[in-house]
Amino acid sequence: MANRSPAIKYTQLFINNEFVPSASGKTFPTINPATGQKIIDVAEADKADVDVAVAAAKRAFQRGSEWRNLDASARGRLLNKLADLIARDTEYIANVETLDNGKPYGDSVFDIQCAIDTFRYYAGWSDKIHGNTIPADGTSFTYTRREPVGVVGQIIPWNYPVLMLAWKWGPALAAGCPIVLKPAEQTPLTALYIAALSKEAGFPQGVINVLPGYGPTAGAAISSHPDVNKVAFTGSTEVGHLIMEASAKSNLKRVSLELGGKSPLVIMDDADVDEAVEIAHGAIFANHGQNCCAGSRTFVQERIYDDFVKKATAKAAARKVGDPFSEGTEQGPQIDDEMFNKVLNLIESGKKEGAKLQCGGQRFGKQGFFIQPTVFSDVSDEMRIAKEEIFGPVQSIIKFRTLDEVIDRANKTTYGLAAGIITKSLDSALVFAQAVQAGSVWVNCYDAVVPQAPFGGFKQSGQGRELGEDSLKEYLEIKTVSIKLPVKN
Ligand code: NAI
Ligand code: MG
Repeated sequence: MANRSPAIKYTQLFINNEFVPSASGKTFPTINPATGQKIIDVAEADKADVDVAVAAAKRAFQRGSEWRNLDASARGRLLNKLADLIARDTEYIANVETLDNGKPYGDSVFDIQCAIDTFRYYAGWSDKIHGNTIPADGTSFTYTRREPVGVVGQIIPWNYPVLMLAWKWGPALAAGCPIVLKPAEQTPLTALYIAALSKEAGFPQGVINVLPGYGPTAGAAISSHPDVNKVAFTGSTEVGHLIMEASAKSNLKRVSLELGGKSPLVIMDDADVDEAVEIAHGAIFANHGQNCCAGSRTFVQERIYDDFVKKATAKAAARKVGDPFSEGTEQGPQIDDEMFNKVLNLIESGKKEGAKLQCGGQRFGKQGFFIQPTVFSDVSDEMRIAKEEIFGPVQSIIKFRTLDEVIDRANKTTYGLAAGIITKSLDSALVFAQAVQAGSVWVNCYDAVVPQAPFGGFKQSGQGRELGEDSLKEYLEIKTVSIKLPVKN
């Protein structure tokens, strides 16, 4: 049940299975985006705390440690136990998530369910991470082992706080890596609660550490730390560049990046317009537009363009914005004043550059960071709203003539996270799916993200993949062992 004022249980750093204050004693406020008011002060980690947490993780990873001696199947049982505890406390966690992030309560419950599914999926992998035996030249017997990469730093954003944590922890823990996670400064609360659940589940000391704090301080200390062997990051492309740079300048730690996008959703004129409007609406407005794979360029074929614009506008105008704890609310506030201003600024640019504002375009209400669902038609490829990641509830509808033309236009971006096409033609769907430069392609659906299938970006949308078997590779080293034999057979 939705409850506007869940008691906040944990506000300190979680290091070595204990909640502790930061070395500096500093704290920072976490804000309720629906009101702009402070929820509570949280301990602020900086470099000194990162050093302590990394040392704890390193001890946990030492040869002969409890964690290293666990059977792989036991790691799987711990992951399943953590999933059980999250399931037990779903209602509480969902309330804290909605308070801290502003997403509707039902969306928080859905995210938590997806996080549970992710943990269970990776629990299953724990004892199925195999090497090979290899028919090497000569007389050696050669095999490979897939070993955990070591201490991993994980830096996550605020748009899906619990789910991003699960995408990061699931494969890392299945692979056997201890973790130092920094949640986003906007949304530290659910990560701290799940840290407490990890202790209850029985993870040994030092395997899981959670350090709330800011990016340029705590985040940078993780990405440049000499004893962190891998960093997994989700956030802006701008910071993605900094993470790679920090790796290059420190210890060449492995890097995986899930970054921004400007994903095209193409609607062919053989589509059912009502159905296409529904899919395109969900593709952009889900999570208030704060979605890395948001379908933020809605390409519509010219014959159905006007009809589509009319219906998409009606759909957006009817979207229920308001208190995220109220039943029926579809859209809450943007995450903070910075994002609120960024989105409003991009909306202004759309008006100035000649796009036609069909609905919305302004803040919603008088307090908090709410923005009206906004639809622009007559958008052209050069406008900022067609090129930059808005990360807000703004649909940009662009006209096209032919499939061939729209493929080139869809690919004319530095991003490549996702793409979609809505059509009844198998040929159109497959030609598009082959030609579009994107890590995920969705046909007659959108946001079909599941734990079993890899997710990640082409081009500057990232490096590496999350979810699926592919995500495990990001947390594993391959060791080749060759043993000389006296004879070949
Ligand atoms: P951001 O990239 O600054 O923040 C994401 C995470 O990185 C946070 O935990 C932050 O503390 C950390 N961080 C920031 N600077 C860092 C640094 N120098 N070293 C290490 N860690 C650092 O993203 P922000 O400012 O929240 O949003 C900016 C834009 O990024 C958004 O408008 C959106 O376009 C995009 N974004 C994309 C996300 C995605 O899911 N791919 C999620 C959040 C934002
Ligand atoms: Mg930032």
